Amino acid sequence: MQKTLGAALLLLSCTFGFTQQAKQIIIDTRNLALVFSIQPNKKVTQSYLGNKLMSGDYSKISGGGEIYPAAGMEYQFEPAIRMLHADQNPSLELQYVSSSGSRQENNVATTNIVLEDPVYGTEVILHYTSYYNEDVIKAWTEIINREKKAVELTEYASSFLHFNADEYWLTQFHGDWAREMQMVEEKLTNGIKNLESKLGTRTNFYQTLAFFLSLNRPSTETEGEVLAGTLAWTGNFKYTFEIDQRNTLNLRSGINSFASEYFLQPREVFTTPEFIFTFSDHGKGQASRNLHRWARKYGVLNGSEGRMTLLNNWESTGMKFNETRLVELFDEAKNLGVDLFLLDDGWFGNKYPRNDDKAGLGDWIEDSTKLPSGIGYLVKEAEARGIKFGIWLEPEMVNPKSQLYEQHPDWILKLPNRPENYGRNQLVLDLCNPKVEDFVFNTVDRLLTENPGLAFIKWDCNRSMTNQYSPYLKERQTHLFVDYTRAWYKVLQRIRSKYPKLPIMLCSGGGGRTDYGALKYFTEFWPSDNTDALERVYIQWGYSYFFPANTISSHVTDMGKQSLKFRTDVAMMDKLGYDIRVQNLSPGELEFSKEAVKTYKKVSNVIWFGDLYRIESPYESDRAVVMYVNENKSRAILFNYHLNTRRQDIFNRVKLQGLDPAKKYRFEEINLFPGTRSIQPDNDKLLSGDYLMKIGLNLSPGRTNPLTSNIYELTEEGARF
Ligand code: GLA
Repeated sequence: MQKTLGAALLLLSCTFGFTQQAKQIIIDTRNLALVFSIQPNKKVTQSYLGNKLMSGDYSKISGGGEIYPAAGMEYQFEPAIRMLHADQNPSLELQYVSSSGSRQENNVATTNIVLEDPVYGTEVILHYTSYYNEDVIKAWTEIINREKKAVELTEYASSFLHFNADEYWLTQFHGDWAREMQMVEEKLTNGIKNLESKLGTRTNFYQTLAFFLSLNRPSTETEGEVLAGTLAWTGNFKYTFEIDQRNTLNLRSGINSFASEYFLQPREVFTTPEFIFTFSDHGKGQASRNLHRWARKYGVLNGSEGRMTLLNNWESTGMKFNETRLVELFDEAKNLGVDLFLLDDGWFGNKYPRNDDKAGLGDWIEDSTKLPSGIGYLVKEAEARGIKFGIWLEPEMVNPKSQLYEQHPDWILKLPNRPENYGRNQLVLDLCNPKVEDFVFNTVDRLLTENPGLAFIKWDCNRSMTNQYSPYLKERQTHLFVDYTRAWYKVLQRIRSKYPKLPIMLCSGGGGRTDYGALKYFTEFWPSDNTDALERVYIQWGYSYFFPANTISSHVTDMGKQSLKFRTDVAMMDKLGYDIRVQNLSPGELEFSKEAVKTYKKVSNVIWFGDLYRIESPYESDRAVVMYVNENKSRAILFNYHLNTRRQDIFNRVKLQGLDPAKKYRFEEINLFPGTRSIQPDNDKLLSGDYLMKIGLNLSPGRTNPLTSNIYELTEEGARF
């Protein structure tokens, strides 16, 4: 259904989503509106982005920046699109042709705006899907070549937004291996600030592709206007924040066009990834809750379903294990009470056994010395103990010391006339090659077909791309970065059409792949190889801005020096797992851990599906407090962490958030270590939501020892769970 410009009044009106009035296109959600105006010269401009008007009447605003500025004509800033036509003309003019709207379900509507170049016929279709209840908009673009010969795209944004504020504050998250998600907030000044990755695989290694943009002043958890944005793309990305001479900020989001000129054949459509954003005038907390709700329902595979607790063997055994040892570990998993045992790296390779990271990658057959009875036996033994069995894979990679490398030297990304370049002694396979695509799919498919009981996969990717050359792409090398990611998604689509429900954790040498492009196919991700619980408070805090708790895998390990209680309380903040030597636990520790797993299972619905309130930031003081509240506000879980506290620290009462002021809650400390009692003065009291949110609680009674923690449950009076 397409509507053309010209009708004076309402052309299509829904209660939300897409509305076209006179010369305006309005995209809205419960609280948010994005308004475009169609100018007399057929340019479309963004006239408004912000809180929705109660009247819905935006007719008095009309100007604004171009919706998708093209390079080569009068626009002189960073463009959304730049194209060289078949005749090498480097200009593009995008004029309004039509717009239309459709409703996917009650809560979801999509608006399409068609633009066209009057000379070359190039078509650009801008899509905006709006999610009413979640206040989230997803924007992406299709670019269609209408010429008779190929054209070259040198810039191809997903979305372009304009802001007019006195000041702009950008919060970004950068890092490195074991130092993921370090938050930095800065004031943007005139000129350009880019957040980007050129790493190909393991794309978020140094920079996470999610950010906050606060308008006028830095937003807090509860106050201020803020846009939270992220891109659904597991490849090179780039956000450009450009402040022009009139203090307007232009935000371009999309694939990084670095070394990625893309040639479009006649009639070929280039579809960009989706830029996902929400806007809140109540600070970052609300923005996160919007994204979490959206992600669980629409962004993450099985996002509204439960997750399995697990015992992983990476930190306890590394690659040194055999069948007997693993079966012993199954007993430990069973004793602990977790749902699944996850066998990590080191189980494969025969000519080149995988005993360290120097050999074997690519040869996905059980090591007959370590596992003479095969995976099927392990699945059976695990099942006999009432637990499930999962396995680690890194199917996009190869060690030079492998049979795969010997058999298919042309399946590997590497420059023909340069020495090979290794990262963790490995190379990246050329997924642009359909034969490699088949190989990766078949690796997973074979494992799952031969072992129907296999219940979980951890999919790893331990290096970024260097030596960037695809033997398959030949003269189209500039397509490598884009085509690699698209081919990876193709493999995942094939896997998902055959195995729609199988839980798969996405890992990339820690948190090198954390985005909603991938999470359509994955149920959770590994945030960091750093499992020191103190560090994890910060890392998990960072991810919590953009991802719901049931996607953030958090394991109790021996890495940190903290008490088991502290390590467990930190892991319980998100999706609980273990990677410890259970046999080394003292009887008290074992009893505590078994109870902790049981407790987690009782409260995890609130953590996974509740609303998150970040109350005390570890970036602002020596403690962190977060809480989750279930949808009908009858139950909440409160986490309290004392970090590197010092005697001088004064911790005031903590006012809770998100409760129902009219309800009375039983407040109770849970997950206590055997033989200890709660010293919380309000423990086991009945307190009103009003009291808890206005007067609050003293969560630091007595001397607050460093690296101590508490978990509390709040239950509505009379409610039973
Ligand atoms: C990566 C992962 C780890 C582990 C190892 C195995 O580093 O992040 O969790 O799986 O690979 O080699």
